[in-house]
Amino acid sequence: MRILVVVASRHGSTWEIGEVMAEAIASRGNLVDQRAPEDVASLEGYDAVVLGSAVYLAHWMGAARDFADRFSEELSRIPVWMFSCGLATQPAASANSPHELLALRNLIGARGHRSFRGRLDRALLTFAERAAIAGARAREGDHRDLAAVRTWALAVADDVAAHPEASVARHGAAV
Ligand SMILES: Cc1cc2nc3c(=O)[nH]c(=O)nc-3n(C[C@H](O)[C@H](O)[C@H](O)COP(=O)(O)O)c2cc1C
Repeated sequence: MRILVVVASRHGSTWEIGEVMAEAIASRGNLVDQRAPEDVASLEGYDAVVLGSAVYLAHWMGAARDFADRFSEELSRIPVWMFSCGLATQPAASANSPHELLALRNLIGARGHRSFRGRLDRALLTFAERAAIAGARAREGDHRDLAAVRTWALAVADDVAAHPEASVARHGAAV
């Protein structure tokens, strides 16, 4: 199978999560490409897509939302999974559950969505970003659980292998 991992990341931590996923999915014998959303011109030849974004101010990054819009038709015909990377600690209905998530998930018929903890390195932030989080109780540091990332990605690879043809439960179950 040929699988595309598409990742919108501003400071690199979500991109690195994508790299761990790509490696895990490839370890199951798949051909995997990883791209930023704006670098994808076509989905031709791909059997499945993993689409992820860093979360900023309770939203997915614009490039990831644009990607879902641009390719909504193609995506709804192949298996797709979504993931978010952020620091919010609460489950659904918190800031870690970006406002547009459900609409996007329905738009592209994703089979599942998973949130992963990210990294906050104040040294990498712009002045505006530091100001934006000044009032928030954001914990600095690398909170990524790469073992959990790998486990999820392997489950995705196994699901594609087990149900290659079963496309697109528009309101499908989460992995
Ligand atoms: C200005 C700013 C706003 C953020 N807003 C959120 C948020 O609303 N929800 C959340 O879960 N994480 C939020 N985060 C945490 C980021 O999602 C986290 O640092 C993530 O790992 C960044 O990914 P990246 O390195 O790929 O850009 C915010 C971080 C910054 C700097």
